[in-house]
Amino acid sequence: MKVLITGAGGLVGRALVEHCSASGDKVKAYDHAALDITNADAVESVIVDPALNAVINCAAWTDVDGCESNREKARDVNAVGPANLARACRKAGAAFITISTDYVFSGFKEGFYTQRDQPAPLSTYGYFKLEGERNAQQEHARTIVVRSGYIFGPGGKNFLSNVVSRVERGEKLKAIGDYWGTPTYARDLAMRLRELAVLDLPGIYHVVSAGDGASFETFSMEALRLAGLDPDAIEVVSGDSLKRPAPRPRNSRMKCLLSEAIGLAPLPSWQEGLAHFIATQYSDRLQRSV
Ligand SMILES: NC(=O)c1ccc[n+]([C@@H]2O[C@H](COP(=O)([O-])OP(=O)(O)OC[C@H]3O[C@@H](n4cnc5c(N)ncnc54)[C@H](OP(=O)(O)O)[C@@H]3O)[C@@H](O)[C@H]2O)c1
Repeated sequence: MKVLITGAGGLVGRALVEHCSASGDKVKAYDHAALDITNADAVESVIVDPALNAVINCAAWTDVDGCESNREKARDVNAVGPANLARACRKAGAAFITISTDYVFSGFKEGFYTQRDQPAPLSTYGYFKLEGERNAQQEHARTIVVRSGYIFGPGGKNFLSNVVSRVERGEKLKAIGDYWGTPTYARDLAMRLRELAVLDLPGIYHVVSAGDGASFETFSMEALRLAGLDPDAIEVVSGDSLKRPAPRPRNSRMKCLLSEAIGLAPLPSWQEGLAHFIATQYSDRLQRSV
């Protein structure tokens, strides 16, 4: 495949560049400095190659609380950006894949969100990510929207990616025990993104690691157990006690109605992903503790 990746410097972007390169693809990787997806002219000037099979958009403004106080930037990056990319893909004849979020849902449902559930975002971030999905689909019929959530992996700036390193440094952490999602290993998400690009079947997919999901507390405890660290470093708190600017869905666990129907195997469980993440990122510490 010939694939162009935006947001290539982020958590998912890096995992995807690595996976596509290892799969033998011709990869054009653009980090934020190389391509600003809010700049329609810049986007059109790089998506021109008629031999390009797919563009995979990993760029987003992922500061959920920041989005509450800067709606314009949230809209530009998360809603206008995907529209720019989708339009350019239509003109160039490439498939377009863009990543969206579990935060398009309100979280009031019990159980798992599927594609049959109506999105009803609570936050500005979720609102504009949903607008980004719809903009892209309107601009280009060959759009694949991949909703994921609670993503963790090497180089991630978010809580789940950093539990082990922060506790190793001696920090005490607050982990939310009463909000649930489906943790997703960036490496496995990257593998599925590429599979979807090859299949080129437009639609909305929910891509998460297998299993029943987890709270931040459950995830953190498992991470510390696997790394041989003291679980007492975690203080369990309620999500509402943190008084964060952006409301989050209390339950945003997702399942996909389409993936298995088109012959895709479930991703490995988040526990397997986490074990791989810790074994590869913290091998020194694991060797010291045996
Ligand atoms: N992480 C999660 O738990 C999670 C959950 C659900 C969905 N998602 C979605 O997954 C996708 C990947 O997120 P991630 O976790 O990899 O986040 P990330 O690590 O924050 O990566 C996002 C990347 O986008 C870049 N970016 C920001 N504004 C840009 C712009 N205008 N033009 C080009 N690049 C820009 C950022 O660069 P700078 O940092 O230099 O600005 C960053 O490298 C996003 O669509 C996100 O909404 C993430």
